[in-house]
Amino acid sequence: MSERNIILVGPMGSGKSTIGQLLAHRLHKDFYDSDYYIEEKTGVDIPCIFDVEGEDGFRNRETRAIRELTELDNVVLATGGGSVMREENRKILRSAGFIVFLDTSVDQQLDRLRHDKKRPLLKTENPRERLENLLAERKPLYIELADLRVPTDRKFARKLASEIVHHLPEYLTRK
Ligand code: S3P
Repeated sequence: MSERNIILVGPMGSGKSTIGQLLAHRLHKDFYDSDYYIEEKTGVDIPCIFDVEGEDGFRNRETRAIRELTELDNVVLATGGGSVMREENRKILRSAGFIVFLDTSVDQQLDRLRHDKKRPLLKTENPRERLENLLAERKPLYIELADLRVPTDRKFARKLASEIVHHLPEYLTRK
């Protein structure tokens, strides 16, 4: 368990990677993104993993990635939007650091993900409905996990990062 880690949870398109990188820079921590980590390890992208191994295969890789990345100390970790679905993952995340939930509306998600080709779960006739269903299922889990909940709508990433830093406990902002 590291008391110096910050973990970002929230739905796809909530800005976890962008905000995470800004936070890491400001707080002198290293930044990791579990999706990127999985892609690096497998050598293929996430849509390809879904195609070959199905969502279950991806979720197993995701659990492994979370387990490995939470062994690290003094990092900012952006997690995939679905990582909170497994109790096992929630347990690991809970004991691995301070958890920030980026609370985003479906409108904003759709806006951000308009041109996205990398989210297999959005390859559907009705992406809005898909995002609404996913959020209905996952939002209670994000809320339950979070030490800090930050509404992200209509805010610039830098402003949001400052707001988060402002609300972090002092032990996390110390150099
Ligand atoms: C997923 C979110 C994605 C990625 C995968 C599945 C989900 O991560 O892990 O496509 O189930 O919501 P981001 O939240 O970084 O987009």
